[in-house]
This record gives sequence, structure tokens and C-alpha cells, in this order.
Amino acid sequence: MMTTAPTVQPSAAIGMAPVVYGQSDRPPRGDYSRANGDYTCAQDYAAYTEADHDTYRRLYERQSALLPGLASQHFIDALPMLGAKDRIPRFEEVNERLRRATGWEIVGVPGLIPEVPFFSLLAQRRFPVTDWIRKPEEFEYIVEPDIFHDLFGHVPLLFNPVIADYIQAYGQGGLKAAELGSCEMLSRLYWYTIEFGLIRESGGLRAYGAGILSSSGELAHSVRSTEPQRLPLRLERTMRTLYKIDSYQPTYFVIDSLQQLFDLTAADFTPLYQQLRDQPTIAADALEPGEVAL
Ligand SMILES: [Fe+2]
Repeated sequence: MMTTAPTVQPSAAIGMAPVVYGQSDRPPRGDYSRANGDYTCAQDYAAYTEADHDTYRRLYERQSALLPGLASQHFIDALPMLGAKDRIPRFEEVNERLRRATGWEIVGVPGLIPEVPFFSLLAQRRFPVTDWIRKPEEFEYIVEPDIFHDLFGHVPLLFNPVIADYIQAYGQGGLKAAELGSCEMLSRLYWYTIEFGLIRESGGLRAYGAGILSSSGELAHSVRSTEPQRLPLRLERTMRTLYKIDSYQPTYFVIDSLQQLFDLTAADFTPLYQQLRDQPTIAADALEPGEVAL
């Protein structure tokens, strides 16, 4: 499933000019008239139908069965913290546990939101979760993130203190990148870590990115297939690498530990943005001279 495909947000419902968060030309799905000025909205729990709960239950059941041997142990250990498996969890109930664990909370949003409000929420340790779920006919594939992707894919690792701090730092860095006109470079880092990251663990390579963890097909593809190339995560390489929003990734970047991810991104990126501005981007499937895939 290709999710969190950055897209164009019209924001017309709340009277803002269109803000680009990525490359889609489709209008975003979701009722933005329900959103507050910061794009958050209450989870409309009463609006879920039995079919919606059933879709969540089936997705959860199928995906959780695929995790052993493919998903990061950090993720597998944290998954039960989501609570309900047989119906869509209530955000307040997840938040009772999440606040205690890492001080994060999840907030409802109608769908993808523009960059700056997105970064602002992350900087406040508030993770936006789309509150609607895909239709049964979209069970296998949905283009933009729904509640299953956001909740199942992203929220378990918010219970991990290192990732919790990393994502907040990412939000703070995003606000700065927006001022420096460098959001595109930073969004590639998000894409190749939080969405499509791989980590080396004692048993071998494992997935920790939400786009992989919420996808039935990409989970095995990313970890086991000989088709994609896997490279060690290096900031400058990753920030120059374009990505696919309509197919599995041809390249994945691998970290050795969650702490490595946090440490790599602790520095001020301002000089790096300046340095990378003069360098060409790298195609999603390219191997640079001298590089050896893992
Ligand atoms: Fe996502």
C-alpha cells in the first residue's frame, strides 16, 4: 500500500491558499470542513459503521500475522499498546496509554495536511491520524493514508522513547526547513525513514517504516526480495533521492539502530541544505558510482 503519498491540500474549506505537500494532482479525500484551524478534528466515532469496524479488524488480523520475521521487534513489542483489534480504537483510549508512555498524543485529521501544520503538530508531540477508513473494495490498496495506515503503521513506535523523540525533532526541523525553503529534502528523509525505513536487527533486516508495516505486499518485498536495492542510510544521499508514490520502493535505506537515526538527525541541517541545493537529485532506483548495495 502506498500511503502518506504527499499530496496537494486545497484547504479551501478553511480559507487558505493551496499548499503543496508532495506531488499528487488528486484532491485529497476527507471532509476538511470539520477541521479546526490547525487541521485537527474530533474522531467521529459514531460515524463508523459495522462494515468500517470489520474492515479494520480484517486489516489488523491480516497484517499482524505477517509481522514475525519481517517487522522490527520494536514495532512488534509495541503493537498491543494500540488496544482494540476487532474494531477501530478510540483515540482517547490510545492516548491514555500513549501520554503515559512518551508524552505523545494522537489527534484526528480529515486526511493529509499541509507541511507547516503537520510539522507544528509533530513539534508539539501530537501525531495526526486520519479518522476515516478505506472502503472494503480498497482493502488491498489505497493511495492516501487512512486510519489503518496512520494508526497501525505509525502509532506503535510512538510508544518507543527514541522514535518519539526523533519524530518530535523532525517536526521542529521541519518548521525550520520550511523557513529555509528546504522541505523537499527533509520530506525525502521522512519518506525513507518513518515511512519506508529498514533496520538491521539480530535476526536480520526488518521494517520499521509505517508505509511498509501497513502494506501486506511491501513488507516481504522490502525485507526479502532481491529486487530492490538496500543502502546504508546517509543523510546527504537520502535527501537527494527521489521516491515512488505509485509502486514499491526500488531503494530502501537501512539503519543499524533507532538511536543511530536520532543521532544522525540531531545536527542543524542548515549547512547541509545549502550544500545539497547545488547537487542533482538521484533517481529512485539509481546506484551512485562507488556505491555497493547491501
Ligand atoms: Fe504515513
